[in-house]
Amino acid sequence: MKVEFYRHNVGEDEIESCVKVLQSLFLTTGSVVDDFESALAEYLGTESVVGLTHCTGALQLSLIAAGVKQGDEVITTPMSFVATSHTICMAGATPVFVDVERETGNIDANLIEQAITKKTKAILPVHLYGQMVDMKKILAIGEKYNLHVIEDAAHALEAERDGIRPGQKSFGACFSFYATKAITSGEGGAFASNSAENAKKIRQLRSHGITSEVAQRNRTGLHTYDIDRLGWKYNMDNIQAGILLTQVGKINAIRQKREDVAQKYIAGFGGNPQIKIPKEYDGIVHGRHIFAIWVNPEKRNKILEYLNTNGVASVINYPAIHLFSYYREKFGFKDGMFPIAEEIGKREITLPMYAKLTDEEIEYVIDTVKKAVSIS
Ligand SMILES: Cc1ncc(COP(=O)(O)O)c(C=O)c1O
Repeated sequence: MKVEFYRHNVGEDEIESCVKVLQSLFLTTGSVVDDFESALAEYLGTESVVGLTHCTGALQLSLIAAGVKQGDEVITTPMSFVATSHTICMAGATPVFVDVERETGNIDANLIEQAITKKTKAILPVHLYGQMVDMKKILAIGEKYNLHVIEDAAHALEAERDGIRPGQKSFGACFSFYATKAITSGEGGAFASNSAENAKKIRQLRSHGITSEVAQRNRTGLHTYDIDRLGWKYNMDNIQAGILLTQVGKINAIRQKREDVAQKYIAGFGGNPQIKIPKEYDGIVHGRHIFAIWVNPEKRNKILEYLNTNGVASVINYPAIHLFSYYREKFGFKDGMFPIAEEIGKREITLPMYAKLTDEEIEYVIDTVKKAVSIS
């Protein structure tokens, strides 16, 4: 049997919606993007959403909009996809890592205060695997030290903790619509916030710093525009938005299917001392983006190889960021600086978890993982 790492849910509805856009006059950022932004804002319970080309761009623009610049520091986690800290560098700032919680892999909110210096401008937490960090605590720290909190919510479209959902209380949250995400247009991203002012800044930054985008000028009959700051070129187009728009109404139903898969894995691995499943906080909604298992670090690569050669496509999410050559060389990070993140980075294996997995495939994954951890 071959269990793919991911099978997307894009189908007839998305094809139809995409064709409709392709047959229309306006392919770039226009009314379909507006419709998608409104639909997603309604789903998230935020005032505004801005459609972008990727989460990387959403993070970079958020940092810039929050005033982060050369010489500043931004506190973040070493246990994430490298986009998180790369965007801090793209904004000209320095990433300051703090270690993560041993049981979940999320940034340890109790370690943030001691990492704050005069140069700190923002905190950039990541809702790892789909579980939200302790936003209450992190927002309180942000308020106390006058720091912006920007959420990397690439894994957490559906998540909720303590009655807070991404983007509702922070400067803003950044989402990814990359090929394996909860909704996808192959590539894509968004910024969500309850601050219309923050959203307005991102909207300007996504199109070269222009004071009014093409569609707006078309609508208003305005022919001139100004550029009053440097901007980027990260505007979502109508084709991406058309593909995504049809998926917004299906987000919760598809998450439920991933939840069912996760529950079957949890039951299937339950009690196996060689398979640790990250702890889940009580009373949350888990985004269920990544199903991670943590195994013996000495055996991890062998287990991974066994899984892949036996038809269970599995990957690593993530090696600890500070140990990548770029980060070692540029910032002088060394082994042992963030030991919990390092350990998770050596133990982690991500298993296939998506709506289209069949019961037979789920059984096969469970059996193969159990064999892999016992054989190697
Ligand atoms: C935690 C995290 N942040 C940021 C990103 C970057 O997203 P994108 O590929 O849309 O730029 C990803 C992508 O997978 C991610 O997992």
